[in-house]
Amino acid sequence: MSQNNSRAVFTTRFGAIATTVGSAVGLGNIWRFPYEAGVHGGGAFMICYLAFVFLIGVPLLCAEFCMGRGTRSNIFGAYRKLGGPHLARFAGTLGIVASLMILSFYSVVAGWTVEYCLSSLTGGLDFSDTAAGHGQFVSLTTGWRPLLWTAVFLVANFVILISGVTKGIERASNVMMPILFLLLVAFCINSFFLPGFGDGMRFIFAPDFSKITPQVLFGALGQAFFSLSLGIGGMMTYASYFSDKSRLGRTAMTTALLDSAVAILAGVIIFPAVFSFGISPQAGPTLVFEVLPNIFDRLPGGMIWSTLFFLLLFLASLTSTVSMSEISISYFCEEKKMSRTRATVLSSAIALAGGLLCAMSFGVMSDFTIFGMTVFDLFDYVASNFCMPVGGFVCAVFVGWFVDRKFIKDQLTDYEAYRFPLLRPLRFCLRWLCPVAILLIFLNITGIL
Ligand code: PHE
Repeated sequence: MSQNNSRAVFTTRFGAIATTVGSAVGLGNIWRFPYEAGVHGGGAFMICYLAFVFLIGVPLLCAEFCMGRGTRSNIFGAYRKLGGPHLARFAGTLGIVASLMILSFYSVVAGWTVEYCLSSLTGGLDFSDTAAGHGQFVSLTTGWRPLLWTAVFLVANFVILISGVTKGIERASNVMMPILFLLLVAFCINSFFLPGFGDGMRFIFAPDFSKITPQVLFGALGQAFFSLSLGIGGMMTYASYFSDKSRLGRTAMTTALLDSAVAILAGVIIFPAVFSFGISPQAGPTLVFEVLPNIFDRLPGGMIWSTLFFLLLFLASLTSTVSMSEISISYFCEEKKMSRTRATVLSSAIALAGGLLCAMSFGVMSDFTIFGMTVFDLFDYVASNFCMPVGGFVCAVFVGWFVDRKFIKDQLTDYEAYRFPLLRPLRFCLRWLCPVAILLIFLNITGIL
């Protein structure tokens, strides 16, 4: 990616795919997927999640790509150019607010990866048994240190966004992401030797259709959106930087395949360990941070594995937060005519305020709840389970029913450079499948249906 005044441009097709995958693959796959799957019963969740990724996620990725590249605008501008100011106000505001909420709680979890990485490096982690793992998590994530790490992470994100080292992080991530992938494969092989391997695999892969409840569907839908960075204009904004030869359909499919592969690997790593070490799969957001160190502790040279893993997870988080931040930054720059530096300061300041509140949810503010949720949980729930699917619904209906067919075709064929044989099924998904499925799931969860 190279930077000009206010926007960056991906120069190669590979760059476009790498950064899109970089946005998708992050804490959503390795931290959020296992905990959501654990809370929602494993196999039933997995099936729904995969179905949503390919039946709703891929068509919506195509739709966001078409809107972004076709208009070369931020989410607000894209809706304004194609649909008018009212739609832009609704979909744009939803996307920008949700992206800042996600950036807030995401930075807290990314801050934990910094803490764990440094503690591994200095030999400060004691995960000799399950209780120690839990105690360690509590001591590392309460008090003032998580606030510091959240801020440190946001500063790193800020520096990348304004210093034009996007190119550097892109290059680094092109090397680091394959290493992270290999590391995950190695940990999967290690899972095979754990006593709870069979139980863990049954938990995550045995499809128990009777366990598919409205909550499971709702959770899986939110996870599919979160993991693919969908519904709030993240992929739209990135696509606005794609070149005219980006093969949007192929980029969408590659992103979905790699993203779900990483989530599945994370499941194969976590659940055998969960059953081997007697940890509850329902532990929630803390699950992965309590389980992983137990795995590392049993490996020869465990602290080296641990340091490397958390370092790579930190980098994977950065490639995601860069894309998340770009949603609001491109809006402030292009619609509010701010300089890139001011826009970045503003987004980062909002995220820092939100992030500190979220970080305190595990400490001094753990008793402060709204609708029974801490600020951290509330931000995650509202942004991932509501804003993202609602944004996706609007995008599907809009692109499926209102945007000119020729516009979509031009985008998907790179202006007739080649054929795109899946245009009809894609339009069917956008017109019917995506909106109806999202609507039914919402009606179901609210008890109306
Ligand atoms: N998809 C990212 C992940 O899985 C999170 C994300 C959400 C990134 C929204 C950008 C926008 O970690």
